[in-house]
Amino acid sequence: MQLSIINGSPRGASGNTEKLLSHFINGFMETEGNSVELIHSIGDRPLFEKSKELFLRSKNLLIAFPLYVDAMPGSVKELFEALQECSYKNPDLSLMFMIQCGFPETHHTRFVARYCEKLSSKLGAKFNGTICKGGCEGLSVQPQALVEKVFKGFYQLGKSYGQSGKLDKTLLDKLAYPEQLSHENIKQVIPMVNSFLWDYLLKKNNALDKSFDKPYKL
Ligand SMILES: Cc1cc2nc3c(=O)[nH]c(=O)nc-3n(C[C@H](O)[C@H](O)[C@H](O)COP(=O)(O)O)c2cc1C
Repeated sequence: MQLSIINGSPRGASGNTEKLLSHFINGFMETEGNSVELIHSIGDRPLFEKSKELFLRSKNLLIAFPLYVDAMPGSVKELFEALQECSYKNPDLSLMFMIQCGFPETHHTRFVARYCEKLSSKLGAKFNGTICKGGCEGLSVQPQALVEKVFKGFYQLGKSYGQSGKLDKTLLDKLAYPEQLSHENIKQVIPMVNSFLWDYLLKKNNALDKSFDKPYKL
């Protein structure tokens, strides 16, 4: 099976989207004869010639992106609009999406996931599912065991997709855990996130005392 992938992350090849994709691809490539063509970044805006060309000649296309402000990054929205001119020009295309976000609840990705499903039909493609994953902020600073678990989930999903051409529902659900956190969990998680990510960065920049500054306050 041949799989085309567009990485829509504004961070391109150096971002979390690419890291997760690489594990999905490793699993996908376990099946003999499978091959991948990956566009590492959509920097060729506003024309997106490479992405349009890939859309028109692929049978299986995965568009991956991070959640930015509860939706897709602006560059990805621009790509979706540019793809309109390719609508119904590749009726054999199976379209998939991968959406990952920083907040630990996968639920945050579900709204834009619904948009992606509608987009597939507007582009005249067959919708083949969306991989949703929360908790991806700071993959580089999270404990190794947690990171390995996420990477393994993407690997297993890629492997099973590479064999069947379908995203396995059980593996998708396992990867998406936790869908939502309880109030109790949130009370524990937020201080951890604050300390591991924001306070860590503030300390590194010698600016912890400025964490409650309000520079835009009138
Ligand atoms: C400008 C910006 C906005 C973001 N907005 C959200 C958000 O609304 N919800 C969320 O859970 N994560 C949000 N994040 C976190 C990213 O989704 C997360 O760090 C992701 O793993 C980044 O992937 P990338 O490295 O491929 O860009 C945001 C990050 C940035 C830089």
